Amino acid sequence: KIQTFICPSLLSCDLSRIAEDAKQMIDFGADWLHMDIMDGHFVPNLTFGPPVIASLRKALPDCYIDCHLMVTEPAKWIEPLKKAGATSFTFHLESVLPENDPRVMIQRVRDAGMKVGMVIKPGTPVEELLPYGGDLDMVLIMTVEPGFSGQEFMPDMMPKIKALRQQFPDLTIQVDGGVGPKTIDAAAEAGANAVVAASAIFGSDDRKGVIALLRAGVEK
Ligand code: DX5
Ligand code: ZN
Repeated sequence: KIQTFICPSLLSCDLSRIAEDAKQMIDFGADWLHMDIMDGHFVPNLTFGPPVIASLRKALPDCYIDCHLMVTEPAKWIEPLKKAGATSFTFHLESVLPENDPRVMIQRVRDAGMKVGMVIKPGTPVEELLPYGGDLDMVLIMTVEPGFSGQEFMPDMMPKIKALRQQFPDLTIQVDGGVGPKTIDAAAEAGANAVVAASAIFGSDDRKGVIALLRAGVEK
């Protein structure tokens, strides 16, 4: 059976105490810390970058730091993020890539020593991602327009996950956007095994309980 990963997005934590909230997530059973890196150009929001990742790495030396790059030129951030301590680097297929070639980008991330993921926005057909499935550690299917947490899950993205799962039985398929106890079943049934959630976890009075529900849902 495929391994499952619960990946709280720290975008919705109290960013003035990011390390405390990150530690709490690990204590509550989370696997990866999902870090939404936005540059105000690729998406209409601005978050954090390598210095914050470096601080988090210092506070949590062993955690898996899962970086989702929502930036115009992700290649610029490979070395800085590696130096900061990122574990994985997931870039958008829609961003500006070196030599206009996703394979060049994949190789550069690998050469830097990070796990590599590729992500598509809701408007991008999954067919554009399929040719790279065999070269990636992870694919990410967005179920909201990237930029903000707290948006509604788009169930019409599930066929993308199904198509990927059919072709790649062992690939890690992550789902991001509007995922919570009410939408986890759809994502899991389609074939997702890694789950990002921000508002569903941080907006709840029972964060541990929500993580447990997500785990139960994705393992079903
Ligand atoms: C959106 C980000 C998500 C976001 C998810 O651009 O990629 O990771 O934090 O937030 P929720 O889970 O609230 O939809
Ligand atoms: Zn994300």
